[in-house]
Amino acid sequence: MDTFVIEGGRRLCGRVRVNGSKNAALPLLAVALLADAPITLRDIPTLADIKNMLRLLGELGVSRLDPGAQGQTDGPIDGGVVTLQVTDPSQSHARYDIVRTMRASICTLGPMLAKRGFARLSLPGGCAIGDRPVDIHLRGLAALGAQITVTSGDIIARTPPGGLRGTTIFLGGPFGSTVLGTANVLCAATLAQGRTIIECAACEPEIVDLANLLNAMGAQIQGAGSPRLVIDGVRELNGADWTIIPDRIEAGTLMMAAAITNGDLVLDNCPMDALMAATHTLEAAGVNFAPVTALAPTQMPGGAAPGPQARNRTPALMITSGSSDPSRGGSDDPMRRTVRVTSNRVIKPVEVTTQPHPGFPTDLQAQLVALLTLADGNSVVTEKIFPDRFLHVAELLRMGAKIVRTGATVVVSGVKGLVGAPVMASDLRASAGLVLAGLAAEGTTVVNRVYHLDRGYERLEDRLRGLGASIERVDEKELAGKDAVGVG
Ligand code: EPZ
Repeated sequence: MDTFVIEGGRRLCGRVRVNGSKNAALPLLAVALLADAPITLRDIPTLADIKNMLRLLGELGVSRLDPGAQGQTDGPIDGGVVTLQVTDPSQSHARYDIVRTMRASICTLGPMLAKRGFARLSLPGGCAIGDRPVDIHLRGLAALGAQITVTSGDIIARTPPGGLRGTTIFLGGPFGSTVLGTANVLCAATLAQGRTIIECAACEPEIVDLANLLNAMGAQIQGAGSPRLVIDGVRELNGADWTIIPDRIEAGTLMMAAAITNGDLVLDNCPMDALMAATHTLEAAGVNFAPVTALAPTQMPGGAAPGPQARNRTPALMITSGSSDPSRGGSDDPMRRTVRVTSNRVIKPVEVTTQPHPGFPTDLQAQLVALLTLADGNSVVTEKIFPDRFLHVAELLRMGAKIVRTGATVVVSGVKGLVGAPVMASDLRASAGLVLAGLAAEGTTVVNRVYHLDRGYERLEDRLRGLGASIERVDEKELAGKDAVGVG
């Protein structure tokens, strides 16, 4: 298994583009199951989860038409472009061995059921961050008339004679709205007869992107981004050519990488409009954001290459500006901005509770906790979406952090510095938090099991190295041979 070996203390400086959103790509790829013509999706990142989704779609009778695929549905993604078309609608069984590797497979259920009248999908298990039930998905589809049974670990769903019928559905649960539950019911409702109203729908930007794609294919959806969606069913959906939104969680992670190393980063294709809760929190912690237009392509932020005492250097002067000329960096699209991120020398403590969008995203909680381990005071972080999403805490303690957990809340007492250590990644975003901590820690940090990270970040080590980080991907066997810092 691969590890990351990080020599901490280097200031990140430079410019990097935010990739297309993993959490938009997954439900949008599943839309291929609904379409009567090819759909082309652009800016699809090359990630393990995306490859798994494409492999699943291949088993569900979907073919890749883009030349880069070389005839394999889960083939290479050239230039971020994927073109999909259903070629065998009889394949409607999403098997356990794929679903267990990626629980987001659940978002094929609604489209497959609505279009084919039948779907069989292995019940997704839990994962490191929680049980991850799908009861609300099933409740919503049943409200549309689906006949659903769960036997031997499989969900078996059928539409009634005449197909699904629109209705009014409350889709809230004990933790509020459900993102992929909303995606499933939304997709199914596009082909249902009559009007469907989804109350307590997820407002996440990825749901907005999904609704916008579906409308581009001929669906009739109103209210995307609000808790109430109104869908008028149509008979069929055409193809589309669609560029997915940038990844707000990757963007937030890069922002915190700048902050924790007292760096100076320019982020291109940054979905600032989808990150207001995160940037509000980071500004309170002393992170500065400036829209960029005047930065000529050759003018890089942060001046000279990072040095050993990176954290104590004052950030480069920021460039402030109004609207911008996209050709020179910068965009008028609030979902695709160019923004410069710097931080004050001292990170200030904050109090945050994760919530459904537009609240602070749970997917940035681990990264924020890592940043706050170096704040000048005590911070309080409460996790309201996945109350057990704290596997990063024990690993941060190994690096000298001071964190006390009580239930779904942690109190983070800032320390002067972290110390590199071997740590264990457990889930996608916890891994990202550990990488951030390693970037700032003194000495060497070895992050084990980085396959977790590869699910949601494309070549993160290469991109961070390009910004001045000392980070290498090393096979743990090779590492053991080098007698490097021990593997935990
Ligand atoms: C999506 O998962 C994201 N994944 C997650 O990101 C993200 O953490 C989560 O939304 C919350 O924002 C993708 O989009 C692929 P939920 P999803 O249904 O839709 C409970 C990452 O790191 N719930 O919104 O599966 C659930 O247990 C991943 O990129 C039910 O009780 O999450 C949780 O407490 C991790 N019953 C809460 O709702 C249900 O039927 C929110 O979950 C469904 C959910």
